[in-house]
Amino acid sequence: MAGFPIVRLRRLRRSAGSRALVRETRLSPDRFVAPFFIRRGAGLREEIGSLPGVFRLSPDLALREAEQLSYLGIPAVILFGIPDRKDETGSEAWDDAAAVQQTVKLLKKELPHLVVMTDVCLDEYTSHGHCGVVRDGRVDNDATLPLLARTAVSHARAGADVVAPSDMMDGRVAAIRRGLDEAGFLDTAILAYAAKAASAFYGPFREAADSAPKFGDRRDYQMDGANRREAMREIALDLEEGADAVMVKPALAYLDWIREARARFDVPIAAYNVSGEYAMVKAAAAREWIDERRIVLEILTGIIRAGADFVLTYHAADAARWLREGHSTS
Ligand code: PBG
Repeated sequence: MAGFPIVRLRRLRRSAGSRALVRETRLSPDRFVAPFFIRRGAGLREEIGSLPGVFRLSPDLALREAEQLSYLGIPAVILFGIPDRKDETGSEAWDDAAAVQQTVKLLKKELPHLVVMTDVCLDEYTSHGHCGVVRDGRVDNDATLPLLARTAVSHARAGADVVAPSDMMDGRVAAIRRGLDEAGFLDTAILAYAAKAASAFYGPFREAADSAPKFGDRRDYQMDGANRREAMREIALDLEEGADAVMVKPALAYLDWIREARARFDVPIAAYNVSGEYAMVKAAAAREWIDERRIVLEILTGIIRAGADFVLTYHAADAARWLREGHSTS
């Protein structure tokens, strides 16, 4: 193999055009999923303090926002619900008239081509803030499964294309698949938050959803972030149970999980560029310590380059706009 001075890698870096021709990783808006926080009401648009540029929306304004995203070429949204009332079991999660279900119906009616995903989890809906039924101070895995299945079926009945369980109970994908199939929703897909670490990067989300656990933490069900081999087992199990696609979450401190999942599993892989990752960028950009546009495109390129097929990101609309303007990577 030839080396220097025959080889000069700089030759193809000389112009934007030649850099574009040899670029290995391409970003485009159709790889983004935009997260929405939904609450009941009308004309409601409350900015979330730790997530500047992200709002809690009522169904009508969620539709307005989804129209804009769709126009920007973003194919999908994922909905998180803020309930009217929380209780011990999180029963508003499977209420067919709740905010998420209402919004799914509205979006699928008005924007039938939009892929509507829903987060299936109880933590936003429970008074204690945990992702399942609490018994003797601990989340009871098996007692939680039917409630998750019921929630997923309620979302499917409203018209959700994809349900995304984020609770990390063992066996939830199988329970949800069975529930969906028994209710006749054979074509509702499951995107499993398969490798989800117990992470400090969810802090701003918990402010947005008022879902911080009232006692203890989530290390008893979310994964220990130190474990890559176990992350691969989580993914393998969710696939065996019937997940159509799997997710790694968070993204930036876990790029090796994405990379290894890409090498091992020939299935669609998503990554969640989570709230804390977004908040850090926004905080530094507000102080003009970093160039927001270049940083965001660099981060999203890194996640895709690691092996993600698509990315859930609060930067979706901004990034789509920058890509339209012709910016590529940093
Ligand atoms: C659970 C859920 C969480 C996030 C997505 N689904 C919070 C948690 O596990 O505590 C976090 C997303 C983010 O931080 O952006 N329903």
